[in-house]
Amino acid sequence: MPEQITITLTALRRKAEDIRAELSLDQAPPAELTTKYLGKKGKFNELAKDIRLVAPDDRKEAGQILNELKESLEKQINKLTLEQDLAPEWTDMTIPGQPPKLGHIHPVSQAMEEVTRIFERIGFTRVRYQEIDWDHYVFEALNMPPNHPARDEWETFFVDAPIDKKFGKVVLTTHTSNGQVREMERLNSQPPIRMINIGRCYRRQQDATHTQMFHQFEGLVVDKGITIQNLKGTLDYFAQEFYGPGTKSRIRPFHFQFTEPSFEVDFSCHICHGTGLVDGKDETGKPAKVKCKFCKSGWHEVGGAGMVHPNVLKAGGIDPDEYTGFAFGWGVERTYTLKPGLNIDDIRLFYSGEMRFLEQF
Ligand code: DAH
Repeated sequence: MPEQITITLTALRRKAEDIRAELSLDQAPPAELTTKYLGKKGKFNELAKDIRLVAPDDRKEAGQILNELKESLEKQINKLTLEQDLAPEWTDMTIPGQPPKLGHIHPVSQAMEEVTRIFERIGFTRVRYQEIDWDHYVFEALNMPPNHPARDEWETFFVDAPIDKKFGKVVLTTHTSNGQVREMERLNSQPPIRMINIGRCYRRQQDATHTQMFHQFEGLVVDKGITIQNLKGTLDYFAQEFYGPGTKSRIRPFHFQFTEPSFEVDFSCHICHGTGLVDGKDETGKPAKVKCKFCKSGWHEVGGAGMVHPNVLKAGGIDPDEYTGFAFGWGVERTYTLKPGLNIDDIRLFYSGEMRFLEQF
């Protein structure tokens, strides 16, 4: 027998509204809500059955009411599911917090601090001069007049700036030797001077052993009666302090415009102790002395040094008949990579921002 009772659209709407309201207050987990409201025997289907009781002319609109109800139930349950997925189930307040990652000082800065401490212990004062300086301080006052061929050794970056009548062009400092005459001037040309100038330098060179920006440290000592012995003693002291007991320094004749005599400075290799040979095996596999791979000769060259040229003392207002001095200048990166245990063969890594490399120091 066909159903007799009819349901008005108003009644249907009210029922739909009731279901919606019920869901909005329901605390059950979303999975349960789906079964309860949208499942086969769920509340929506229960109501949908009632469409048979709606007068035939109203069925279309009744269909719309039911569609809207279904959509809004689905939407609401989806929203609750999403919220549940995102929310942590519970929070354990007793779990120790995650400590923030700690950084550390860059290895090159660490090396500069160590160099500073070593020289401060024997009375040197750390100074720092400009990275962008006049040609005068970088070359001319160091006994290199304009167009002197010795300038070619420094692959100079020139700054596009007005040329000064007295001081010449503006350059990026190619070495920390620009600090020599600046320090003499700072002290009103009054020795004693014991300076350690550490700063950035720039040259048009980039490969495994050169970066366009790098650091140097420059020593300068000026006083009465300073001799090569003082220079050699200072080098030996640094070698022992920086590389460890037993490390020796060696000076070899060389040429720099700003020192006379001039030297190249070497330090003994900590692996073969200056012999150039280590224990190994010959071609037949028998134990034998073989060439040290780290230094190949027993020594590592680190930089230059010498007795300050009289013209440089004069440029700084100091009388070379009364005073003498020595100077040296080395790359921080190069000096540092020779430390025992480091064995870094590409100094570009220092400036690569590569955390796996930097975190090791
Ligand atoms: N300025 C030189 C360079 O960059 C290194 C140097 C050599 C510095 C001899 C000195 C020195 O003070 O006496 O190659």
